[in-house]
Amino acid sequence: MTKTHLEAPTTTAERERAAKSMAARLSNKLVIGGKLVDAITRETFPVENPATTEVIGHAPRCGKQDVEQAVATAQSAFAIWSAIPARQRSAIMLEAAQRLEHESETLAQLSALETGNALSTQTRGEARTMVDILRFYAGLASEMKGKTIPWTQDRFLYTKRVPVGVVGGIIPWNAPLMQTTCKIGPALAAGNTIVLKTAEQAPLAVLRVFEIIQEVLPPGAANVISGFGEEAGKPLCEHPLVRKITFTGSSAVGAQIMHYAADKFISVTAELGGKNPNIIMPDADLDLAVAGIVQGLRLFRQGQSCTAGTRVYVHDDVYDEVVKRIVPAVNKGRMGNPLDEATEVGSLISAEQLARVERYVQIAREAPGAYIICGGERPKDERLRRGYFYVPTLIEGIPSDSPVCRDEIFGPLASISRWKNFDAVLAEANDTPYGLAAVLWTRDLARSMQFIDQIQAGFVQVNQFSVAEASVEYGGTKISGIGRELSLESMLEHFTWSKTIIINYGTPRI
Ligand code: NAI
Ligand code: MG
Repeated sequence: MTKTHLEAPTTTAERERAAKSMAARLSNKLVIGGKLVDAITRETFPVENPATTEVIGHAPRCGKQDVEQAVATAQSAFAIWSAIPARQRSAIMLEAAQRLEHESETLAQLSALETGNALSTQTRGEARTMVDILRFYAGLASEMKGKTIPWTQDRFLYTKRVPVGVVGGIIPWNAPLMQTTCKIGPALAAGNTIVLKTAEQAPLAVLRVFEIIQEVLPPGAANVISGFGEEAGKPLCEHPLVRKITFTGSSAVGAQIMHYAADKFISVTAELGGKNPNIIMPDADLDLAVAGIVQGLRLFRQGQSCTAGTRVYVHDDVYDEVVKRIVPAVNKGRMGNPLDEATEVGSLISAEQLARVERYVQIAREAPGAYIICGGERPKDERLRRGYFYVPTLIEGIPSDSPVCRDEIFGPLASISRWKNFDAVLAEANDTPYGLAAVLWTRDLARSMQFIDQIQAGFVQVNQFSVAEASVEYGGTKISGIGRELSLESMLEHFTWSKTIIINYGTPRI
C-alpha cells in the first residue's frame, strides 16, 4: 500500500470533507501550459453533488478565447513532445500512470462526490482502469511503424506515420476518469498534444488528473478546459490547429462534431450511445445469464453506461423463471451516499437525467400492454429524495417500436420481452439505429455463431458480460460511433497520418 492509501480518510464524513476541500481548491481553475491556472473568462458555473444537490465548487465557463489559449499552448508543446523519442514518451506516460495510481483513491473519492457514482462499486474500479488504460497506450508509443512497398529496382518506397498535431478531446460525465485516459492515451502515445474539454456536470476529478500528470509531462502537452458544448466544445472542434477530434457522448452531438470536422477534413473518433440487446435462449445456464443480465444493466452506474444491456429478450420457456430471479437481484444493490463504503448504487448525474428517466417511465405507463415489474419511482427514503436517486426499473410488454425500446435512456431502466423464434428476435435486436454492444446467453454453438455473424454491434459477447478496459478493443457501428478505442490499429489510423516516400537511388556510378 502506498503512503496515500494509508493516510486516506476512513469514515464517510472524513472522505466527504477531504473530497470537498479538494473540489474547493480546484474550483474555477483549468490546467493549461503545465499548471493550474485561472481562465480568461470570468464566468463560471456550479458543480453539484448529485446525491444531495449541494454545490461543491465552480468551473470556468470557457469560451473561444480560452480555447484559443489552450490550443496555442498545445501547439507549441507539440514541437517538443513529438520530438521526444517514442521510448522516452512511453516512459513519461508510464510515470504519469504511476502518479495517478498513487492518487487513485483520492481521485475516486472526488469523482464519486461530483458524479453520484458509488466509490465502492464504480469510481474506485474506474480509477484503476484509468491507470491501466494509460499504461496500455504508453506501451503503444513505439508502434508507429510504417511499411516498405516493393516497387521498381531503383526506387525505395516506404510510408511513415506522422502525428497530427493538437488533438481535441471531449468527454461526458458518466465515467470521466477512464474516459480521460481513453482520450489522452492515444493522443500522447502517437506524439500529439491534447486539449480536453470536460463535461459540464463533472469537471473536477479530471482537472485533478491533469494537474497530477503535469508533474512529468512537458508543459502544454496535456491541457484541460471546462464549459458547455456550444460555447467551449464547438470552438475547440472548429479551431484550425485542432487536427483530430476524439469524442464520447450522445449520437446527436457526435453527428454535430462530424460536421465540424468535415470542414477541416479531419478524423473523428466517436464513442456514442447504445441500446443494447441481451438475448436469453431456453438452454442458457440461468445462473450465469441472470447474473450477467443484472451486471449488464450497469446499476452500479445507475444505468448510465453506453454498454448497458437495456433490452432484455427472454425465451418464452424460461421467461417466468428469469423474471422471478432478476427482480430481487436488481433490487439488491444498496442505495445511498456514494462516498459511503456500504453503498452499491449511487444517484443519477443531474436533474436533467432524472427528468429524462421519469419521462420514459411515463411513456411506458401510457403504453397499452406495458407493465412496470419493479421500480418506476424515486426511493421513499427522505435522505435519498434530496438527490437524483431512482429505483431500478424493469418494464415488460412494451411494444418494440416504443421510444422506451428504441432510445438510449441512460438510466436504471430496462425492457424485458418474451420471444419464441430466434430469427425474429435477432431481427428485433437489430432493429434500432444503434449498434454498440450485444450479449447472447446459450449453450448452443450454432446459434452463437449465427448471432455473432448477424448481430449489428461492435462489441459482442456470448455467455459473459464485460465492459471496455485496457486491451479490450471497443466501439460501435451504425449511430453508436466510428473508430475504436483501446486499439493499436485505430490509434494509428485516427491519431496519425501516413506519408508515402519514394527515393530514387539510381544506378551504381562506380
Ligand atoms: P452530450 O453528448 O450532449 O455531451 C457530451 C459532451 O459533449 C459534453 O462534454 C458536452 O459539453 C459536449 N457537447 C455537447 N454539445 C456539443 C457541441 N455542439 N459541440 C461540442 N461539444 C458538445 O451528452 P449529455 O447532454 O450529457 O447527455 C444526453 C444523453 O446523451 C444521455 O442521456 C445519453 O443518452 C447520451 N450520452 C451517452 C454517453 C455515452 O457514453 N455513450 C455519455 C453521455 C451521454
Ligand atoms: Mg447535451
